[in-house]
Amino acid sequence: MARILITSAIPYINGIKHLGNLVGSQLPADLYARYQRGRGNEVMFLCATDEHGTPAELAAAKAGKPVAAYCAEMHEVQAKIAEGFRLSFDYFGRSSSPQNHRLTQHFAGTLAEAGLIREVTENQMYSKADGRFLPDRYIEGTCPNCGFDSARGDQCDNCTKQLDPVDLIDPHSTISGSTDLEMRETKHLFLCQSQMKDQLEAWIDSKSDWPVLTTSIAKKWLNDGDGLQDRGITRDLDWGIPVKRGDEDWPGMEGKVFYVWFDAPIEYIACGAEWAEANGKTDADWERWWRTDKGAGDVRYVQFMGKDNVPFHTLSFPATIIGSGEPWKLVDYIKSFNYLNYDGGQFSTSRGRGVFMDQALDILPADYWRWWLLSHAPESSDSEFTWENFQQSVNKDLADVLGNFVSRVTKFCRSKFGEVVPEGGDYGEQEFALVAELQEKLDAFEAHMEAMEIRKSAAELRAIWVAGNEYLQAAAPWAAFKQDPERAAAIVRLSLNLIRFYAVLSAPFIPDASAKMLAAMGTEGADWPGSVGDALAVLEPGHGFTVPEVLFAKISDEDREAWQERFAGTRD
Ligand code: 2FM
Ligand code: ZN
Repeated sequence: MARILITSAIPYINGIKHLGNLVGSQLPADLYARYQRGRGNEVMFLCATDEHGTPAELAAAKAGKPVAAYCAEMHEVQAKIAEGFRLSFDYFGRSSSPQNHRLTQHFAGTLAEAGLIREVTENQMYSKADGRFLPDRYIEGTCPNCGFDSARGDQCDNCTKQLDPVDLIDPHSTISGSTDLEMRETKHLFLCQSQMKDQLEAWIDSKSDWPVLTTSIAKKWLNDGDGLQDRGITRDLDWGIPVKRGDEDWPGMEGKVFYVWFDAPIEYIACGAEWAEANGKTDADWERWWRTDKGAGDVRYVQFMGKDNVPFHTLSFPATIIGSGEPWKLVDYIKSFNYLNYDGGQFSTSRGRGVFMDQALDILPADYWRWWLLSHAPESSDSEFTWENFQQSVNKDLADVLGNFVSRVTKFCRSKFGEVVPEGGDYGEQEFALVAELQEKLDAFEAHMEAMEIRKSAAELRAIWVAGNEYLQAAAPWAAFKQDPERAAAIVRLSLNLIRFYAVLSAPFIPDASAKMLAAMGTEGADWPGSVGDALAVLEPGHGFTVPEVLFAKISDEDREAWQERFAGTRD
């Protein structure tokens, strides 16, 4: 049994995420976690809310709430929505947890001991109108790299370049809009990433199997000349993890906190400790996932994220881990995604454009969204959500192909043989051909799932559903029944087994429908198929089943138009 550690980029606490966020990290991570569990492997799937930094402070201020209370509330909201989408985290933690405070301060201490942190007195943007320094998102301006006019102080959303607020052209305060800014002296800690360039490069070069998107972004910033500048890891903010060196105070750093991008990835590890505490486990239980000296040597660690997160996960976080000199588990594979666009433009949290996770669940069950998003995941390029395409996918793939197969087979059987798997009749050419075809397709499906080729996996799964439909159509048990009821019994027996087989394979994509199919087939036997032949003999003659309710309702043109209209504007 393999052991697989999976993390999804941890979503910012500031509000509900849109479908583009979901498909860029949490959902494909869940698909992979469910698949690996289905294969009988031991999985630890961790995610959390990213609660520090300016996004949290600004959102809390907007909501008129103290930031700690705002974060606690929004964590619950996000946890509930994650449950709604059936995201099967082993634990959904919080980057503001005591565990993360301790670990982040610990890493800072070990990095300082290793000589990888230096204190820098620098000039920083200070807003006289706001009476404060303007770190990160408190300041916006034009990106010096690509010219995008709403680049934030810490990163340009357009070209993914990591920035310093002083780099911005024509900067202004996002609190007051003031451009009355001046440079003032303040002291900060810098992580000496530049000293680790060779080590990081060798490590990235050793990952020849990484997706091109991940490696190209990593290499771009590594070799960009200024790509591996030392990074400021502290901020003049109230909310965050106080700057300490392990347990000790850090002279000169009073009142400062760690930069959110320093503590956020450390939360991946801290989340394991939170999981242990919440489940009455010991330190050894989480350390066997995270410490190579304590059992994590044979763990395969896979991270999922959008492309804007890649620089932090290929350079900054590994610099923290490698620089600590301690045996923490480094990531083995980084699956990254392009962007999902919305109906001719971009999804935008700040502008409220697109469908947000709570709204999506208000109008349709999770499986409909999961199927569309996963089968259109923005892997090789950006992809686009349109209501027409969504309607077509749901109606064709889910309702016509899968749903209809289940309904036809179960209803036909009930009317001719009753609600039991019929006996009698032999399998012939058609069945042998189907089994051979399905075996080939199953092998391809498994290979794509292992490789995290999400779209290809979805296409192969759909082809597996289609093969069953074509078989049923050609074998035509309704016609056979008239002359040869035993032949019809054999076809129906195989088809009922196909429903169970589909339920097992489809569970990572559409877990609710899969559970309904298994329940209707009167079985909890969801073991991953060894061979197709064996899998199609699990339900034996005489085994009881029921006809399930309609698995997927079709989306009507009226619904589609109404939703298109409803989501055309912006969310308030
Ligand atoms: O882009 C984001 O939503 C960030 N909150 C992701 C952080 S991932 C990690 F570093 F923790
Ligand atoms: Zn830019």
